[in-house]
Amino acid sequence: MLNAWADGYVSEIAYTHGFYRELAPTLLAFAALAANHSSPDPARPLTYCELGCGQGITTNLLAASNPHIQFYANDFNPSHIAGARALADEAGCGNVHFLDSSFAEMADRTDLPEFDIIVLHGIYSWISPENRQAIVRFIARRLKVGGLVYISYNTLPGWAAFLPLRQLLVDNAVDTAMPLTTRIDQSLKAAEALQQANARYFLLNPGAADRLKTIVSQQRAYIAHEYFNRESTPYYHTDLVDELSAAKLTWIAPARPLEAIDSLNFTEAQLALLGGVQQRSRREGLKDFILNQQFRRDLFVKGPLPLHAPQGDAMWAQTLFILTVPATSLGELKIITPLGQLTLATDVYRPVIDRLAQGPLTAGDLHAALPQLLFAQICQALIILVAQGYAHPCIRPEQAAAIRPHTDRFNQAVMARARFSGDIGYLASPLTGTGLAMDQMTQMLLSAHLAAGTADPVASVWMHMQSCKQRFVRDGQMLMDDQDNLTELRHRYDALLKDAWPVLKALQIV
Ligand SMILES: C[S@@+](CC[C@H](N)C(=O)[O-])C[C@H]1O[C@@H](n2cnc3c(N)ncnc32)[C@H](O)[C@@H]1O
Repeated sequence: MLNAWADGYVSEIAYTHGFYRELAPTLLAFAALAANHSSPDPARPLTYCELGCGQGITTNLLAASNPHIQFYANDFNPSHIAGARALADEAGCGNVHFLDSSFAEMADRTDLPEFDIIVLHGIYSWISPENRQAIVRFIARRLKVGGLVYISYNTLPGWAAFLPLRQLLVDNAVDTAMPLTTRIDQSLKAAEALQQANARYFLLNPGAADRLKTIVSQQRAYIAHEYFNRESTPYYHTDLVDELSAAKLTWIAPARPLEAIDSLNFTEAQLALLGGVQQRSRREGLKDFILNQQFRRDLFVKGPLPLHAPQGDAMWAQTLFILTVPATSLGELKIITPLGQLTLATDVYRPVIDRLAQGPLTAGDLHAALPQLLFAQICQALIILVAQGYAHPCIRPEQAAAIRPHTDRFNQAVMARARFSGDIGYLASPLTGTGLAMDQMTQMLLSAHLAAGTADPVASVWMHMQSCKQRFVRDGQMLMDDQDNLTELRHRYDALLKDAWPVLKALQIV
């Protein structure tokens, strides 16, 4: 079924319920700071807009954990907006406005404020040129001077090898009389058959064969929106920079600061080549060739203000960080970068982690406590710990009291939903202004643990699981034996109390 309003975009299957942490105002500001650029201060009463919000999980969670910010979000799929509004109601989010509007309608609306932050994740490469122009018009009209834009997009040259695969999948699915899920299944089977028949496209593009294997294992809702729209336009970084300059945007940094630490991403020979290119967007484009980049998340500003070194250092010195995993879970630290697996220097990371384990500290506090480390080493360690999901920028614990009622209500709404759906895998923290991942079963155990009068949370959740015929899956196999399920549940409850509880407490989620 083709909806006239959908303009070639998939609308008969609703999108997945993702939360994207890079969109958090605290993390956006951190990424700008890491690139030595000023950006809207997330502690201030900002205005924030997410274009194409899908199910609205990200915007709702951020609204709950940043009640001083006014959030707006649009999507032209009314099912998405209905679901997003329902969650906002259940969670009592009074600072969020979900708009059933297309990008073209957003560009023409006169009832919206000017925004400090505009974000669009998973949009720009998947829509028509006219819709991209509408987005540029919207940003030109609605972004404040000094405002920040986050944008993600499929990137060339990395995506080039997948364009024929996408075409194949779409061509295999032209019979619009069948439901899209059936067409997707048939289309994937046809592509697999072609691969098994040793089609040279797959032989000479092993990346495409790998991707097909990945696609087959992905959720149908994700596949539909990723590959089955009428449009698919990967971008060279430089072309995107040119296109967005029409809205007076200047590129400032990748949204993941780790990607900007050249020594972690490039060999000596590659660094020498990059050093020969002065123009920033060309240099960034060259990096995409070196890495065969397939996907980028970039930050742009309308009127960039680079921070002078002392200003930047002063901001770093005042930025608080908190550990978001148990310190005991962090042994020898390894990270995967384009250079392979790197082991992080224990004499730098161990003391930073041990100090943060005692409670939130600023980079300045850490430097005062660890004079053997250079300030730059501490800042780089923090970038890496944040990138790995081990730490996060935060506010002072005493400031979180005013936010706590909002996140508590959101978390109660999420945990209530966990009884019938595993869609929302995150709880909100008033301290970090973002989400912490937690699976459905752990959410149910936590909810039962917090409920007064539940004698044994494991027994209570097991009863619920039995009533809905729910079972755990291990190594791709459903556990059929009751005792195996109970053991798994007990194991998860123990882990919740022993490992997760101190972190949940520190993040003021409980
Ligand atoms: C791939 S999804 C991404 C959703 C969300 N940003 C996320 O990452 O979960 C793209 C979203 O854009 C919406 N969309 C596509 N074209 C649109 C248009 N012309 N106007 C408004 N929304 C649109 C779709 O309905 C869908 O929810």
